Amino acid sequence: MDKKKKMSIPISNRVSQMPKSAIHEMTRLSKEVDDVAFLSWAKPTSGTPEHIKKAAIKAMEEGKTGGYSEPEGIYELREEIAKKLKKVNHIEASPEEIIVTVGAIEGLAAAVMAVIDPGDEVIIPIPGYSTHIRQVIMASGKPVCVPTIEDESFGLDIERINDAITEKTKAILFSDPNNPTGSVYSHEELEDVAEMARKNNLIIITDEAYEYFTFDGYKHDSIASFPDMKERVISAFTFTKTYAMTGWRIGYVHSSKEIVPQIKKGHIPLAICAPVVSQYAVLEALKSSQECIESFREHYKNMRDLMCRRLDRLSHIFKYQRPKGSYLMFPKIKIEEGKDSLAFAKRLLKEARVSTTPGVAFKSESHLRMSFCVPEEIINKAFDRMEDYF
Ligand SMILES: Cc1ncc(COP(=O)(O)O)c(C=O)c1O
Repeated sequence: MDKKKKMSIPISNRVSQMPKSAIHEMTRLSKEVDDVAFLSWAKPTSGTPEHIKKAAIKAMEEGKTGGYSEPEGIYELREEIAKKLKKVNHIEASPEEIIVTVGAIEGLAAAVMAVIDPGDEVIIPIPGYSTHIRQVIMASGKPVCVPTIEDESFGLDIERINDAITEKTKAILFSDPNNPTGSVYSHEELEDVAEMARKNNLIIITDEAYEYFTFDGYKHDSIASFPDMKERVISAFTFTKTYAMTGWRIGYVHSSKEIVPQIKKGHIPLAICAPVVSQYAVLEALKSSQECIESFREHYKNMRDLMCRRLDRLSHIFKYQRPKGSYLMFPKIKIEEGKDSLAFAKRLLKEARVSTTPGVAFKSESHLRMSFCVPEEIINKAFDRMEDYF
């Protein structure tokens, strides 16, 4: 080999061909702007409740947190999670069917690794959470993105999903309530998905991160609770959103006794176990009063209403679907310049000092994702600036 010839660094095609994350790009650019009104992150801005923090400190002081736990998580915690799954999600769960993971994300990554062989297809309704698409690519699978129906609150297009199923389809993966659209799938939509999975022998992987945050009487349903579905559903949950614990990095997956040991084989090389101090913190979160969830939900609902009212005043620029859940919304940009969502979001940041996330990050141009898990002042500041700007 000619030594003078510059060699390219040997990085996998899988990773090097992945586009840079538009979410992280907007965060980086936002740091360069003074006094930015930041609507870019799906991260709760309220702090973790005091009683949860105290439980972590106590566990540390008692010397419980210095080592690894069992890879699947401490047994007492899995017992509490099983109780929660029965009570809240109507899933007949046992501790043996649960793995405590490094946030929902690591659980989903391990689940995808357990299910997908190179070349397998995974159907993902879009707009969808970009991390899911990347997880499939990391497993050398092929994401098959199927548009949802925007005018029907970004509901599932069952016919198109059905048409997208091929011999290579292994799984359907989605978040519900949805990031970025705020849609909450109805019982009927989920039953249609369940029927497709039964008929075509597919696995369903769900990301239920926003399970508690639904509004206006809409309720979140867990598809694993539907008849005969437990054996083919992997459900991921998290403490990140429910108890405002983003940095604690703790979530869990549930599936059948047959599937869980296979996911565990994926989980160990990714994490060994979830952070032990966080396991003790969430044990307390589950065992004590659940009041904080209701107050977070109330806050998000009020902030959603405020954001919708403010968007109404910008109806010449944006058209939106009222989110039924999550703390995110995905308005469509009506004007010509919105066709390139990244350029539009960058301009909004530079010229109006408002940080949003471009729709391209969720496989949908002409949209912006706006997060309403922020204090009222931030929403008002962002929209005052946009009203002056447009
Ligand atoms: C749909 C969805 N799933 C998962 C996550 C991350 O969850 P965790 O912090 O538990 O890894 C997010 C974060 O924004 C999300 O929006």
